[in-house]
Amino acid sequence: MKPDTILVLDFGGQYAHLISRRIRENGVYSEVVSCDINITDILDLSKKFEIKGLILSGGPSSVYDKDSPKLDTRLLELKIPIFGLCYGHQLLSYLVGGNVKKSSKKEFGITHVEILKPAHILHKLNRMEKVWMSHGDTVYDLPSDFEVLARTENCPVAAFGHKSIPLFGVQWHPEVTHTEKGDLILKNFIFKVCGCRNNWQPTDFLQKTMNEIRGTVGKERAIIALSGGIDSSTAALIASKAIGKKLTAVFVDHGFMREGEVEEIKNVFKNSGINLSIVNAKKQFLNVLKGVKDPEKKRKIIGNEFIKVFEMVAKKIKAIYLLQGTIYPDIIESGSTRHSDKIKTHHNVGGIPSKIKFKKIIEPLRDLYKDEVRTIARDLGMPEQIVKRSPFPGPALAIRIIGEVTEEKLGIIKKADKIVREEIENHNLNDRLWQYFAVLTDTKTTGVKGDARAYGYTVAIRVVESREAMTANFAKLSYEILEKMSTRITNEVPHVTRVVYDVTHKPPSTIEWE
Ligand code: XMP
Repeated sequence: MKPDTILVLDFGGQYAHLISRRIRENGVYSEVVSCDINITDILDLSKKFEIKGLILSGGPSSVYDKDSPKLDTRLLELKIPIFGLCYGHQLLSYLVGGNVKKSSKKEFGITHVEILKPAHILHKLNRMEKVWMSHGDTVYDLPSDFEVLARTENCPVAAFGHKSIPLFGVQWHPEVTHTEKGDLILKNFIFKVCGCRNNWQPTDFLQKTMNEIRGTVGKERAIIALSGGIDSSTAALIASKAIGKKLTAVFVDHGFMREGEVEEIKNVFKNSGINLSIVNAKKQFLNVLKGVKDPEKKRKIIGNEFIKVFEMVAKKIKAIYLLQGTIYPDIIESGSTRHSDKIKTHHNVGGIPSKIKFKKIIEPLRDLYKDEVRTIARDLGMPEQIVKRSPFPGPALAIRIIGEVTEEKLGIIKKADKIVREEIENHNLNDRLWQYFAVLTDTKTTGVKGDARAYGYTVAIRVVESREAMTANFAKLSYEILEKMSTRITNEVPHVTRVVYDVTHKPPSTIEWE
Protein backbone atom coordinates (compact mmCIF):
# COMPACT_ATOMS: atom_id res chain seq x y z
CA MET A 1 0.00 0.00 0.00
CA LYS A 2 1.31 3.44 -0.89
CA PRO A 3 1.63 5.71 2.18
CA ASP A 4 -0.44 8.90 2.32
CA THR A 5 2.19 11.53 1.64
CA ILE A 6 2.67 15.27 1.94
CA LEU A 7 5.41 16.70 -0.27
CA VAL A 8 7.22 19.77 1.03
CA LEU A 9 8.56 21.95 -1.78
CA ASP A 10 11.81 23.50 -0.58
CA PHE A 11 12.08 27.18 -1.52
CA GLY A 12 15.34 27.51 0.43
CA GLY A 13 13.88 28.23 3.85
CA GLN A 14 15.80 27.29 6.97
CA TYR A 15 12.81 25.25 8.12
CA ALA A 16 11.81 23.22 5.05
CA HIS A 17 12.84 19.92 6.63
CA LEU A 18 11.29 20.92 9.90
CA ILE A 19 7.89 21.03 8.18
CA SER A 20 8.43 17.52 6.93
CA ARG A 21 9.55 16.42 10.41
CA ARG A 22 6.43 17.82 12.04
CA ILE A 23 4.27 15.94 9.56
CA ARG A 24 6.12 12.67 10.11
CA GLU A 25 5.66 13.19 13.87
CA ASN A 26 1.92 12.98 13.17
CA GLY A 27 2.31 9.53 11.61
CA VAL A 28 1.98 10.79 8.03
CA TYR A 29 4.82 10.28 5.59
CA SER A 30 6.48 13.39 4.18
CA GLU A 31 9.41 14.13 1.92
CA VAL A 32 11.18 17.33 1.01
CA VAL A 33 11.53 17.91 -2.73
CA SER A 34 13.04 20.73 -4.73
CA CYS A 35 10.74 23.64 -5.54
CA ASP A 36 11.71 23.11 -9.20
CA ILE A 37 9.65 19.94 -9.27
CA ASN A 38 7.25 19.85 -12.25
CA ILE A 39 4.02 18.10 -12.99
CA THR A 40 5.73 15.10 -14.64
CA ASP A 41 7.91 14.58 -11.53
CA ILE A 42 4.80 14.66 -9.36
CA LEU A 43 3.05 12.11 -11.53
CA ASP A 44 6.19 9.92 -11.34
CA LEU A 45 6.29 10.20 -7.54
CA SER A 46 2.60 9.24 -7.44
CA LYS A 47 3.66 5.72 -8.44
CA LYS A 48 5.43 5.42 -5.06
CA PHE A 49 3.36 7.69 -2.83
CA GLU A 50 -0.29 8.57 -2.39
CA ILE A 51 0.33 12.32 -2.67
CA LYS A 52 -2.38 13.99 -0.61
CA GLY A 53 -1.02 17.52 -0.30
CA LEU A 54 1.77 19.94 -1.15
CA ILE A 55 3.32 22.45 1.23
CA LEU A 56 5.38 25.32 -0.15
CA SER A 57 8.11 26.24 2.33
CA GLY A 58 9.44 29.66 3.22
CA GLY A 59 12.60 31.02 1.65
CA PRO A 60 14.90 34.04 1.67
CA SER A 61 13.76 35.45 -1.71
CA SER A 62 11.21 38.04 -2.74
CA VAL A 63 8.82 37.03 -5.53
CA TYR A 64 10.12 40.09 -7.40
CA ASP A 65 13.81 39.03 -7.31
CA LYS A 66 15.09 38.24 -10.78
CA ASP A 67 16.11 34.67 -9.95
CA SER A 68 13.58 33.95 -7.25
CA PRO A 69 12.26 30.38 -7.31
CA LYS A 70 8.80 30.00 -8.84
CA LEU A 71 6.30 27.16 -9.05
CA ASP A 72 5.17 25.04 -11.99
CA THR A 73 1.68 26.58 -12.14
CA ARG A 74 0.27 23.40 -13.65
CA LEU A 75 0.52 22.00 -10.10
CA LEU A 76 -2.35 24.30 -9.18
CA GLU A 77 -4.57 22.40 -11.60
CA LEU A 78 -3.92 18.98 -10.05
CA LYS A 79 -6.64 19.45 -7.41
CA ILE A 80 -4.14 18.36 -4.75
CA PRO A 81 -4.47 20.66 -1.70
CA ILE A 82 -1.67 23.24 -1.53
CA PHE A 83 -0.56 25.18 1.54
CA GLY A 84 1.99 28.01 1.24
CA LEU A 85 4.01 29.12 4.25
CA CYS A 86 5.73 32.52 4.38
CA TYR A 87 7.47 32.79 0.97
CA GLY A 88 5.10 30.02 -0.21
CA HIS A 89 2.16 32.19 0.91
CA GLN A 90 3.52 35.21 -0.98
CA LEU A 91 4.30 33.15 -4.06
CA LEU A 92 0.80 31.63 -4.25
CA SER A 93 -0.72 35.10 -3.79
CA TYR A 94 1.51 36.51 -6.51
CA LEU A 95 0.70 33.66 -8.92
CA VAL A 96 -3.07 34.08 -8.53
CA GLY A 97 -2.83 37.82 -9.19
CA GLY A 98 -2.76 39.14 -5.61
CA ASN A 99 -1.07 42.32 -4.52
CA VAL A 100 2.31 41.47 -2.92
CA LYS A 101 4.65 44.32 -1.98
CA LYS A 102 7.65 45.17 0.18
CA SER A 103 6.27 45.71 3.68
CA SER A 104 6.21 49.21 5.05
CA LYS A 105 7.18 47.58 8.35
CA LYS A 106 8.94 44.21 8.60
CA GLU A 107 7.57 41.69 11.07
CA PHE A 108 10.14 39.54 12.77
CA GLY A 109 9.68 37.19 15.70
CA ILE A 110 6.60 36.61 17.83
CA THR A 111 3.57 38.40 16.33
CA HIS A 112 -0.07 38.57 17.40
CA VAL A 113 -2.42 37.52 14.67
CA GLU A 114 -6.18 38.05 14.56
CA ILE A 115 -8.04 34.99 13.28
CA LEU A 116 -10.98 36.26 11.21
CA LYS A 117 -12.36 32.83 10.32
CA PRO A 118 -11.40 29.83 12.48
CA ALA A 119 -12.03 27.31 9.71
CA HIS A 120 -10.08 24.95 7.41
CA ILE A 121 -6.37 25.29 8.32
CA LEU A 122 -7.29 27.59 11.22
CA HIS A 123 -10.00 25.32 12.68
CA LYS A 124 -10.21 25.59 16.50
CA LEU A 125 -7.90 28.61 16.76
CA ASN A 126 -8.81 31.48 19.10
CA ARG A 127 -9.50 35.03 17.96
CA MET A 128 -5.98 36.14 18.90
CA GLU A 129 -2.99 33.79 18.52
CA LYS A 130 0.77 34.09 18.88
CA VAL A 131 2.70 33.14 15.75
CA TRP A 132 6.29 33.37 14.59
CA MET A 133 6.94 35.54 11.56
CA SER A 134 9.96 36.64 9.61
CA HIS A 135 9.18 38.41 6.36
CA GLY A 136 10.02 41.40 4.20
CA ASP A 137 7.24 41.18 1.57
CA THR A 138 3.56 41.31 2.50
CA VAL A 139 0.33 40.25 0.80
CA TYR A 140 -2.02 43.27 0.71
CA ASP A 141 -4.91 42.01 -1.39
CA LEU A 142 -6.23 38.95 -3.25
CA PRO A 143 -8.75 38.36 -6.06
CA SER A 144 -12.43 38.02 -5.07
CA ASP A 145 -12.47 34.20 -5.16
CA PHE A 146 -10.23 34.21 -2.09
CA GLU A 147 -11.12 34.99 1.51
CA VAL A 148 -8.86 36.48 4.15
CA LEU A 149 -8.67 34.14 7.15
CA ALA A 150 -6.34 36.16 9.42
CA ARG A 151 -4.56 39.49 9.65
CA THR A 152 -1.96 41.28 11.79
CA GLU A 153 -1.35 44.94 12.43
CA ASN A 154 1.00 45.24 9.46
CA CYS A 155 -0.18 42.38 7.31
CA PRO A 156 -3.76 42.62 5.95
CA VAL A 157 -3.64 39.10 4.44
CA ALA A 158 -1.79 37.01 7.05
CA ALA A 159 -3.74 33.88 6.07
CA PHE A 160 -6.00 33.10 3.13
CA GLY A 161 -8.10 30.35 1.61
CA HIS A 162 -9.62 29.97 -1.83
CA LYS A 163 -13.43 29.90 -1.66
CA SER A 164 -13.87 26.70 -3.68
CA ILE A 165 -10.57 24.85 -4.09
CA PRO A 166 -8.14 23.68 -1.36
CA LEU A 167 -5.53 26.43 -1.71
CA PHE A 168 -4.27 28.08 1.48
CA GLY A 169 -1.48 30.30 2.73
CA VAL A 170 -0.19 31.68 6.01
CA GLN A 171 2.43 34.38 6.35
CA TRP A 172 3.84 32.83 9.52
CA HIS A 173 5.75 29.61 10.27
CA PRO A 174 3.51 26.96 11.86
CA GLU A 175 6.45 24.52 11.89
CA VAL A 176 8.53 26.38 14.49
CA THR A 177 7.71 25.83 18.13
CA HIS A 178 7.35 29.57 18.78
CA THR A 179 4.02 29.43 16.91
CA GLU A 180 1.86 28.18 19.76
CA LYS A 181 -0.82 26.44 17.67
CA GLY A 182 1.56 25.52 14.85
CA ASP A 183 1.05 21.80 15.27
CA LEU A 184 -2.73 22.20 15.20
CA ILE A 185 -2.50 24.22 11.96
CA LEU A 186 -0.40 21.51 10.29
CA LYS A 187 -2.77 18.83 11.63
CA ASN A 188 -5.74 20.76 10.20
CA PHE A 189 -4.06 20.79 6.83
CA ILE A 190 -2.93 17.16 6.72
CA PHE A 191 -6.01 15.56 8.28
CA LYS A 192 -8.94 17.95 7.72
CA VAL A 193 -7.99 19.43 4.37
CA CYS A 194 -5.99 16.58 2.79
CA GLY A 195 -7.76 13.69 4.52
CA CYS A 196 -4.53 11.82 5.31
CA ARG A 197 -4.55 8.67 7.47
CA ASN A 198 -1.84 8.45 10.14
CA ASN A 199 -0.55 5.05 9.10
CA TRP A 200 3.16 5.64 8.64
CA GLN A 201 5.93 4.38 10.98
CA PRO A 202 9.66 5.14 10.74
CA THR A 203 10.22 1.42 10.21
CA ASP A 204 12.78 0.52 7.59
CA PHE A 205 15.27 3.39 7.86
CA LEU A 206 17.97 1.13 9.30
CA GLN A 207 17.60 -1.68 6.82
CA LYS A 208 17.39 0.71 3.88
CA THR A 209 20.48 2.63 4.99
CA MET A 210 22.53 -0.49 5.68
CA ASN A 211 21.69 -1.82 2.25
CA GLU A 212 22.76 1.46 0.66
CA ILE A 213 26.11 1.45 2.51
CA ARG A 214 26.71 -2.19 1.57
CA GLY A 215 25.77 -1.48 -2.03
CA THR A 216 28.13 1.49 -2.30
CA VAL A 217 31.17 0.08 -0.47
CA GLY A 218 30.95 -3.40 -1.97
CA LYS A 219 34.24 -5.27 -1.48
CA GLU A 220 36.23 -2.10 -0.76
CA ARG A 221 37.19 -0.52 2.57
CA ALA A 222 35.80 2.59 4.21
CA ILE A 223 36.73 4.85 7.08
CA ILE A 224 34.37 6.82 9.24
CA ALA A 225 35.16 10.13 10.89
CA LEU A 226 34.33 9.51 14.54
CA SER A 227 34.03 12.44 16.93
CA GLY A 228 32.43 10.54 19.80
CA GLY A 229 29.23 12.56 19.48
CA ILE A 230 25.87 10.93 18.92
CA ASP A 231 25.79 11.52 15.14
CA SER A 232 29.13 10.06 14.14
CA SER A 233 28.83 7.27 16.74
CA THR A 234 25.43 6.24 15.36
CA ALA A 235 26.67 6.43 11.77
CA ALA A 236 29.67 4.28 12.83
CA LEU A 237 27.43 1.64 14.43
CA ILE A 238 25.14 1.47 11.40
CA ALA A 239 28.10 1.26 9.03
CA SER A 240 29.81 -1.35 11.14
CA LYS A 241 26.64 -3.48 11.13
CA ALA A 242 26.53 -3.05 7.36
CA ILE A 243 30.14 -3.72 6.39
CA GLY A 244 31.80 -5.10 9.56
CA LYS A 245 35.59 -5.15 9.53
CA LYS A 246 35.76 -3.36 6.17
CA LEU A 247 35.17 -0.25 8.29
CA THR A 248 37.74 1.64 10.37
CA ALA A 249 36.64 4.47 12.63
CA VAL A 250 39.15 7.31 12.76
CA PHE A 251 39.19 9.59 15.75
CA VAL A 252 41.30 12.71 15.25
CA ASP A 253 42.68 14.06 18.50
CA HIS A 254 43.16 17.68 17.40
CA GLY A 255 43.61 18.94 20.92
CA PHE A 256 40.33 20.88 20.91
CA MET A 257 38.27 18.27 22.76
CA ARG A 258 36.84 18.97 26.19
CA GLU A 259 38.59 17.80 29.33
CA GLY A 260 38.51 14.00 29.77
CA GLU A 261 36.74 13.45 26.47
CA VAL A 262 39.41 11.55 24.55
CA GLU A 263 39.70 8.96 27.33
CA GLU A 264 35.94 8.60 27.49
CA ILE A 265 35.67 7.93 23.76
CA LYS A 266 38.45 5.33 23.91
CA ASN A 267 36.58 3.55 26.72
CA VAL A 268 33.22 3.55 25.00
CA PHE A 269 34.49 2.20 21.69
CA LYS A 270 37.04 -0.22 23.16
CA ASN A 271 34.52 -3.06 23.28
CA SER A 272 32.26 -2.07 20.42
CA GLY A 273 33.81 -4.41 17.87
CA ILE A 274 34.64 -1.45 15.62
CA ASN A 275 38.22 -1.03 14.35
CA LEU A 276 39.30 2.24 15.97
CA SER A 277 42.28 4.35 14.97
CA ILE A 278 43.15 7.34 17.17
CA VAL A 279 45.42 9.90 15.52
CA ASN A 280 47.28 12.45 17.63
CA ALA A 281 47.29 15.59 15.47
CA LYS A 282 47.48 18.29 18.16
CA LYS A 283 50.57 20.06 16.85
CA GLN A 284 49.38 19.95 13.25
CA PHE A 285 46.04 21.65 14.03
CA LEU A 286 47.52 24.37 16.27
CA ASN A 287 50.12 25.14 13.60
CA VAL A 288 47.68 25.64 10.76
CA LEU A 289 45.44 27.85 12.89
CA LYS A 290 48.27 30.16 13.96
CA GLY A 291 47.22 33.79 13.43
CA VAL A 292 43.79 32.85 11.99
CA LYS A 293 40.94 34.88 13.48
CA ASP A 294 38.07 34.70 11.02
CA PRO A 295 35.51 32.03 12.04
CA GLU A 296 34.72 30.85 8.52
CA LYS A 297 38.46 30.56 7.72
CA LYS A 298 38.95 28.59 10.92
CA ARG A 299 36.18 26.17 9.99
CA LYS A 300 37.55 25.69 6.48
CA ILE A 301 41.12 25.14 7.69
CA ILE A 302 39.95 22.64 10.28
CA GLY A 303 37.88 20.83 7.63
CA ASN A 304 40.98 20.69 5.44
CA GLU A 305 43.17 19.23 8.18
CA PHE A 306 40.55 16.64 9.06
CA ILE A 307 40.51 15.48 5.48
CA LYS A 308 44.33 15.33 5.37
CA VAL A 309 44.34 13.05 8.40
CA PHE A 310 41.57 10.88 6.98
CA GLU A 311 43.38 10.62 3.65
CA MET A 312 46.56 9.61 5.41
CA VAL A 313 44.82 6.81 7.35
CA ALA A 314 42.81 5.76 4.29
CA LYS A 315 45.98 5.44 2.23
CA LYS A 316 47.55 3.27 4.89
CA ILE A 317 44.63 0.85 5.09
CA LYS A 318 43.58 1.19 1.42
CA ALA A 319 40.12 2.62 2.13
CA ILE A 320 38.41 4.53 -0.66
CA TYR A 321 35.16 5.63 0.99
CA LEU A 322 34.65 8.19 3.75
CA LEU A 323 31.58 8.07 5.96
CA GLN A 324 30.45 11.04 8.02
CA GLY A 325 27.76 11.60 10.62
CA THR A 326 26.36 14.70 8.93
CA ILE A 327 22.75 15.36 9.91
CA TYR A 328 20.19 17.59 8.26
CA PRO A 329 20.71 20.86 10.19
CA ASP A 330 24.44 20.74 9.28
CA ILE A 331 23.46 20.73 5.63
CA ILE A 332 20.78 23.36 5.67
CA GLU A 333 22.87 25.82 7.73
CA SER A 334 25.84 25.39 5.43
CA GLY A 335 23.69 26.75 2.61
CA SER A 336 23.91 23.58 0.60
CA THR A 337 20.38 23.52 -0.73
CA ARG A 338 19.95 25.57 -3.87
CA HIS A 339 17.88 28.49 -2.66
CA SER A 340 18.98 28.72 1.00
CA ASP A 341 21.27 31.28 2.59
CA LYS A 342 24.56 30.21 4.16
CA ILE A 343 24.57 30.72 7.92
CA LYS A 344 27.90 29.09 8.72
CA THR A 345 30.10 26.36 7.34
CA HIS A 346 29.67 23.22 9.38
CA HIS A 347 32.99 21.49 9.06
CA ASN A 348 31.68 18.19 7.87
CA VAL A 349 29.82 19.82 4.99
CA GLY A 350 30.99 23.10 3.57
CA GLY A 351 34.48 22.88 5.05
CA ILE A 352 35.40 19.90 2.92
CA PRO A 353 37.84 20.78 0.18
CA SER A 354 36.43 20.23 -3.28
CA LYS A 355 39.25 17.94 -4.34
CA ILE A 356 39.31 15.05 -1.93
CA LYS A 357 40.96 11.75 -2.50
CA PHE A 358 37.94 9.61 -1.70
CA LYS A 359 35.78 7.94 -4.26
CA LYS A 360 32.69 9.08 -2.39
CA ILE A 361 31.54 10.59 0.88
CA ILE A 362 28.67 8.65 2.40
CA GLU A 363 26.36 10.44 4.84
CA PRO A 364 23.80 7.93 6.11
CA LEU A 365 22.11 10.37 8.52
CA ARG A 366 21.86 13.33 6.18
CA ASP A 367 18.04 13.48 6.22
CA LEU A 368 17.63 13.14 9.96
CA TYR A 369 17.33 15.47 12.90
CA LYS A 370 19.17 14.93 16.15
CA ASP A 371 16.25 13.43 18.07
CA GLU A 372 15.54 10.98 15.24
CA VAL A 373 19.22 9.98 15.43
CA ARG A 374 18.83 9.47 19.20
CA THR A 375 15.86 7.15 18.67
CA ILE A 376 17.85 5.06 16.18
CA ALA A 377 20.91 5.03 18.47
CA ARG A 378 18.80 3.64 21.33
CA ASP A 379 17.37 0.99 18.99
CA LEU A 380 20.93 -0.03 18.16
CA GLY A 381 21.79 -0.38 21.86
CA MET A 382 24.15 2.60 22.06
CA PRO A 383 25.24 3.38 25.67
CA GLU A 384 23.06 6.14 27.25
CA GLN A 385 26.26 8.09 27.95
CA ILE A 386 26.58 8.71 24.20
CA VAL A 387 22.86 8.91 23.41
CA LYS A 388 22.39 11.68 25.95
CA ARG A 389 25.56 13.51 25.14
CA SER A 390 24.81 17.09 24.24
CA PRO A 391 25.80 18.06 20.71
CA PHE A 392 29.38 19.16 20.20
CA PRO A 393 30.55 20.74 16.95
CA GLY A 394 33.21 19.11 14.78
CA PRO A 395 35.65 22.07 15.04
CA ALA A 396 35.16 21.68 18.80
CA LEU A 397 36.61 24.23 21.22
CA ALA A 398 38.40 25.98 18.36
CA ILE A 399 35.12 27.74 17.49
CA ARG A 400 34.37 28.47 21.14
CA ILE A 401 37.54 30.52 21.37
CA ILE A 402 36.75 33.77 19.60
CA GLY A 403 39.64 34.82 17.40
CA GLU A 404 43.01 33.11 17.34
CA VAL A 405 43.34 29.70 18.99
CA THR A 406 46.37 29.39 21.26
CA GLU A 407 47.51 26.83 23.80
CA GLU A 408 46.93 29.31 26.63
CA LYS A 409 43.35 29.97 25.53
CA LEU A 410 42.68 26.25 25.12
CA GLY A 411 43.77 25.72 28.71
CA ILE A 412 41.37 28.45 29.88
CA ILE A 413 38.34 27.30 27.90
CA LYS A 414 38.77 23.67 28.94
CA LYS A 415 38.70 24.61 32.63
CA ALA A 416 35.79 27.05 32.28
CA ASP A 417 33.79 24.60 30.18
CA LYS A 418 34.29 21.82 32.73
CA ILE A 419 32.89 24.07 35.46
CA VAL A 420 29.79 24.94 33.39
CA ARG A 421 29.16 21.26 32.66
CA GLU A 422 29.71 20.22 36.29
CA GLU A 423 27.31 22.82 37.66
CA ILE A 424 24.56 21.98 35.17
CA GLU A 425 24.96 18.27 35.84
CA ASN A 426 25.18 18.73 39.64
CA HIS A 427 21.85 20.53 39.47
CA ASN A 428 20.36 17.75 37.28
CA LEU A 429 19.49 20.19 34.53
CA ASN A 430 21.23 18.36 31.70
CA ASP A 431 18.19 16.37 30.57
CA ARG A 432 16.13 19.42 29.76
CA LEU A 433 18.91 21.41 28.11
CA TRP A 434 20.10 21.15 24.54
CA GLN A 435 23.61 22.50 25.08
CA TYR A 436 25.57 24.17 27.86
CA PHE A 437 29.10 25.44 27.45
CA ALA A 438 31.60 28.23 27.92
CA VAL A 439 32.91 30.56 25.24
CA LEU A 440 36.21 32.38 25.58
CA THR A 441 35.62 35.83 24.14
CA ASP A 442 38.42 38.01 22.77
CA THR A 443 37.49 40.86 25.09
CA LYS A 444 39.85 41.58 27.94
CA THR A 445 38.57 43.58 30.87
CA THR A 446 39.84 44.96 34.14
CA GLY A 447 39.19 43.11 37.35
CA VAL A 448 40.49 43.00 40.86
CA LYS A 449 41.93 39.83 42.31
CA GLY A 450 43.44 39.76 45.81
CA ASP A 451 43.43 43.57 46.07
CA ALA A 452 45.44 43.95 42.90
CA ARG A 453 44.39 45.04 39.47
CA ALA A 454 43.94 42.14 37.10
CA TYR A 455 43.47 42.45 33.37
CA GLY A 456 42.05 39.24 31.99
CA TYR A 457 39.66 37.38 29.73
CA THR A 458 35.87 37.47 29.61
CA VAL A 459 34.17 34.10 29.57
CA ALA A 460 30.61 33.83 28.27
CA ILE A 461 28.25 31.08 29.37
CA ARG A 462 25.86 29.75 26.72
CA VAL A 463 23.01 27.48 27.82
CA VAL A 464 20.14 26.75 25.45
CA GLU A 465 16.94 24.75 25.19
CA SER A 466 16.00 23.42 21.79
CA ARG A 467 14.26 20.56 20.00
CA GLU A 468 16.40 20.31 16.92
CA ALA A 469 18.87 23.25 16.94
CA MET A 470 17.13 25.11 14.13
CA THR A 471 15.66 27.41 16.75
CA ALA A 472 16.71 27.70 20.38
CA ASN A 473 15.92 29.68 23.51
CA PHE A 474 18.50 30.74 26.07
CA ALA A 475 17.79 28.85 29.30
CA LYS A 476 16.43 30.91 32.16
CA LEU A 477 18.87 29.54 34.73
CA SER A 478 18.52 30.70 38.32
CA TYR A 479 20.81 33.48 39.51
CA GLU A 480 22.06 31.06 42.15
CA ILE A 481 23.46 28.66 39.53
CA LEU A 482 24.86 31.50 37.44
CA GLU A 483 26.53 32.95 40.53
CA LYS A 484 28.05 29.57 41.37
CA MET A 485 29.46 29.20 37.86
CA SER A 486 30.76 32.74 37.78
CA THR A 487 32.42 32.47 41.18
CA ARG A 488 34.02 29.14 40.36
CA ILE A 489 35.28 30.29 36.96
CA THR A 490 36.85 33.51 38.28
CA ASN A 491 38.35 31.66 41.28
CA GLU A 492 39.51 28.47 39.61
CA VAL A 493 40.53 29.59 36.13
CA PRO A 494 43.57 31.85 35.94
CA HIS A 495 43.41 34.88 33.64
CA VAL A 496 39.61 35.21 33.75
CA THR A 497 38.30 38.43 35.30
CA ARG A 498 34.72 38.50 34.09
CA VAL A 499 31.87 36.10 33.30
CA VAL A 500 28.77 37.03 31.26
CA TYR A 501 25.60 35.09 30.40
CA ASP A 502 24.34 34.97 26.81
CA VAL A 503 20.62 35.90 26.77
CA THR A 504 19.95 35.65 23.02
CA HIS A 505 17.60 33.23 21.33
CA LYS A 506 18.26 31.57 17.96
CA PRO A 507 17.30 33.29 15.76
CA PRO A 508 18.56 35.99 15.70
CA SER A 509 21.74 34.42 17.17
CA THR A 510 23.14 31.02 16.40
CA ILE A 511 23.90 28.58 19.21
CA GLU A 512 27.67 28.61 18.77
CA TRP A 513 29.34 32.01 18.82
CA GLU A 514 31.39 31.40 15.68
P1 XMP B 1 24.51 26.90 15.32
O1 XMP B 1 25.69 27.50 15.99
O2 XMP B 1 24.59 26.96 13.84
O3 XMP B 1 24.56 25.36 15.68
O4 XMP B 1 23.20 27.41 15.86
C1 XMP B 1 23.52 24.44 15.47
C2 XMP B 1 23.97 23.11 16.02
O5 XMP B 1 25.05 22.60 15.23
C3 XMP B 1 26.24 22.45 15.99
N1 XMP B 1 27.34 22.89 15.14
C4 XMP B 1 28.15 22.06 14.44
N2 XMP B 1 28.18 20.72 14.35
N3 XMP B 1 30.04 20.85 12.89
C5 XMP B 1 29.14 20.12 13.58
O6 XMP B 1 29.21 18.89 13.50
C6 XMP B 1 30.07 22.19 12.92
O7 XMP B 1 30.90 22.82 12.28
C7 XMP B 1 29.07 22.83 13.74
N4 XMP B 1 28.78 24.13 14.02
C8 XMP B 1 27.72 24.15 14.87
C9 XMP B 1 26.04 23.34 17.22
O8 XMP B 1 26.81 22.90 18.32
C10 XMP B 1 24.55 23.22 17.43
O9 XMP B 1 24.20 22.04 18.11
